[in-house]
Amino acid sequence: MGKHPYRITLALCTALAAFSLAACGGSSSGVAAVSQTAGQSQAPAASDLSGIAAVGRPLSGAIYLSDASFPTQSLSAVINPDGSYSFGASDLATLKAPFLMKAVDNSGSAWYSLAPGAGTANVNPLTTLALAMATGSADLQGLSDSFGAHNAATLNVLSSTFPQALLRVGTALQPLLAVYGGSGRDPLAGFYALNRQGLDGFLDQVGITISQGQVTMTDKTSLATVFTAPLANLDAGRVTLSALSAPATFYLPGNAELTLALQGELPAGTLVRRASFTLQLPLGFTVDSGPSAVNTALPIGSAALSNVYPVPALSATDNQLSVSLSSLDGFGTGNFLTIRCLVSSAALLATGAQDFSSSVANFYSDIYKNVRLKGISIVPVSLVFPSHEGKALCASFCASCHNLSSSDTTTASLFGKGTKLTALAGTRHHGVVLSAIQAGYLTEYLDALSSGQVVY
Ligand code: HEC
Repeated sequence: MGKHPYRITLALCTALAAFSLAACGGSSSGVAAVSQTAGQSQAPAASDLSGIAAVGRPLSGAIYLSDASFPTQSLSAVINPDGSYSFGASDLATLKAPFLMKAVDNSGSAWYSLAPGAGTANVNPLTTLALAMATGSADLQGLSDSFGAHNAATLNVLSSTFPQALLRVGTALQPLLAVYGGSGRDPLAGFYALNRQGLDGFLDQVGITISQGQVTMTDKTSLATVFTAPLANLDAGRVTLSALSAPATFYLPGNAELTLALQGELPAGTLVRRASFTLQLPLGFTVDSGPSAVNTALPIGSAALSNVYPVPALSATDNQLSVSLSSLDGFGTGNFLTIRCLVSSAALLATGAQDFSSSVANFYSDIYKNVRLKGISIVPVSLVFPSHEGKALCASFCASCHNLSSSDTTTASLFGKGTKLTALAGTRHHGVVLSAIQAGYLTEYLDALSSGQVVY
């Protein structure tokens, strides 16, 4: 967002501030800037500030925001059980961006971040590290001091140096983040899902200590050091990739995939930000309870950037699955979730989407469950058995040229080649064009075969 032009105007605006406040807002936000003071990084949109406060697991505690006005104004909010927090547009209206953020968990540990304005600002160990670099703090006490004593000038300088610090963190940690599929992700404003993958997987596995001008990262399982660097020169950091525990592989659990839609009419301009419901599974259906249980409910469509938290729980007494999800951006009606179930081969062919039903369902237009939404319901749309569908696809489109023998090591055998199918999706391959969904089903089928399952 035009960081460089902004920094040049910042110097100019600071010099001119006494004479002409209104002239320095940037071209696109000139009108809004009249009511703001010079040097603000961006005119805040009339929207909320929200994000996820997490150290791998979500932080439970409170989040504090401190602004750039004089004297400093602050806000606080309780962090939701899923790590999400939000400050409303009306609360932010009288405050001056940028905002320093501090999340304090119930044990008293604090983590920091900086929000350039309204929008998304996550708080996690990586934003804390970047802020420590940007403020020149030697440790978390230094950050705590900055939080307690700052002014518009220091915040504005931070607001321009913080994004660069974040980039440097991403670059220095790239080899480690890559192992978890988290490289290239924006820890501040990017989507952060509590699914033990990507950034979340990395932060679940790696503990970060900032002390005496030094950052040390430790693998939580082996307790071995995986990264160490002086805060002032992260690029000179030492990465010990071999000491990092491999991520648990979260295969997609289950052999049946149910798609759920949200049906009804939402009040104009309203979106769902929080939903919790129970889903009655038909007799014989269950869900994975192992490490891949985090993939039992996968948000899709306009809800794709939602967090499902906690992991859906299946009641042993009535076979009802409890699902909760929250979305900072909100989502509307239409397909929004897939549920992965496990089912025996006998039940598999005799069941359809109509055999599922949702009983208790609550929807809210805010993440704190203050504003309840009525008139919408959850409808089961389709039930597919990916491996079963994959088997049919393989028989009709691939079997003329390929076999499934585990002893054939040539390209003629598709055994164990599930991972090669994503590359095939959407391309023409010897006269066959597969959609992404079909490629997904074929992958399921090939993976099921190579893991020794019998697919009906
Ligand atoms: C008309 C014949 C033909 C059909 C039909 C066909 N393939 Fe192939 N496929 C080949 C040939 C030949 C190769 C060898 C490499 C190449 O030419 O692309 C191959 C290679 C592959 C490879 C790479 C194998 C490896 O070991 O690297 C995959 C994966 C694959 N095919 C998947 C499929 C799937 C899935 C289908 C069905 C949707 C399919 N193919 C249908 C002819 C075919």
